[in-house]
Amino acid sequence: MMQLEKIRQEFPALGTQVYGKPLVYLDNAATSQRPLSVIRKWEELSTERNANLHRAVHRLADLATQEYEATRDAVRQYLNAASREEIIFTSGATASINLVAFSFGEAFVREGDEIIVCEAEHHSDIVPWQMLCERKGAVLKVLPVDDGGRIRLGALPALLTPRTRLLCVAHISNVLGLVNPIKEIVKICHSAGCPVLVDGSQGIVHERVDVAGLDCDFYVFSGHKVYAAPGTGVLYGRRELLSRMPPYMGGGEMIETVRWSGTTYAPLPQKFEAGTQNIAGTPTLRPALEMVKRLRDPEILAESNAIKSFMLNGLNKISGLRLYGEPSSPEEKIPLFSFSVEQAHHEDLALILDKMGIAVRSGQMCAEPLMDRFGVTGMLRVSFAPYNTLQEAEYFMQSLERAIKMLRG
Ligand SMILES: Cc1ncc(COP(=O)(O)O)c(C=O)c1O
Repeated sequence: MMQLEKIRQEFPALGTQVYGKPLVYLDNAATSQRPLSVIRKWEELSTERNANLHRAVHRLADLATQEYEATRDAVRQYLNAASREEIIFTSGATASINLVAFSFGEAFVREGDEIIVCEAEHHSDIVPWQMLCERKGAVLKVLPVDDGGRIRLGALPALLTPRTRLLCVAHISNVLGLVNPIKEIVKICHSAGCPVLVDGSQGIVHERVDVAGLDCDFYVFSGHKVYAAPGTGVLYGRRELLSRMPPYMGGGEMIETVRWSGTTYAPLPQKFEAGTQNIAGTPTLRPALEMVKRLRDPEILAESNAIKSFMLNGLNKISGLRLYGEPSSPEEKIPLFSFSVEQAHHEDLALILDKMGIAVRSGQMCAEPLMDRFGVTGMLRVSFAPYNTLQEAEYFMQSLERAIKMLRG
């Protein structure tokens, strides 16, 4: 485990303590910890390269702009997008989805049209579509999941009609930890003339994302879940769609000319980047994606797989524990486990685990419709990042068993 130990040392937060105990951070699906390369990039931009982008002729402005645009090239390359014009920087996945909901909605959605979202979506991939449907008099349809949380692909063809304008689905569910069959979904949707938006908030961390291979029309993610600075995010969009969509926000830098008689807009990608951007934050996506690549080391992947089997084994042995998200094969699940335990409320468990130095998530996980689907008010979620160790998983299982015993009396 030389490689993993070496990488862990580059994440200062992983070496800290809470309540005098070593921090075991298992809330990575909410936000990940940051490596020194990201922290230093932010510092470097704040100290040596701080200037507004694209505007001034001075040296600092040039350096800041170079960093920002080089990041666009790096993200394009990482995602295997066809061109840099297809990479729009935003403040996060939520902002990216709202941009599409407004702008795609303005261009393509009329009264009586339909949008499909999956039943397991995060609120960020539900509410913007509800708002769009309300604005336009469109209809929101739901692609259901089965009792194991898997998307019911068989139900999809019947949901698609000539009025379906877009389908929105997570690459990986933040509650179930299941990798959705995006390629198949895209194929079915495209054969019905319906584009697909993929919420890659979790996918970008655990999968090798290739937007050309997936053939999706939009792919969105937040920087903070993938080791970059908070307040950063990406929207990938197919150029032919983005170029037909109107701007989402008006302001500086998204224009070509502004006259009282009217304004013309800048070409892609600036058309969608109004106002001062996240000058120091966005360039941290570059070292962050480098870190994703380094964490794809075979030794680290093997540790992740060991954690997965250890956790599944251990959780299945606890009486009265119900796990949500059953994969058809091990590759279909990331090391993320949401469950509920009889006679042990998720909030109580989370509070006790916290005192043991373990950070986990409890509650609805921003997916209330999915909670309703399973008839629960909340769950406990343990989400591992590739930098977590089997030893941490073992400590977690022992602590969970102790906490359950305490609560059951
Ligand atoms: C699947 C999924 N979609 C969307 C989001 C929203 O991300 P953000 O709050 O960073 O915009 C999250 C974050 O929890 C998520 O897990």
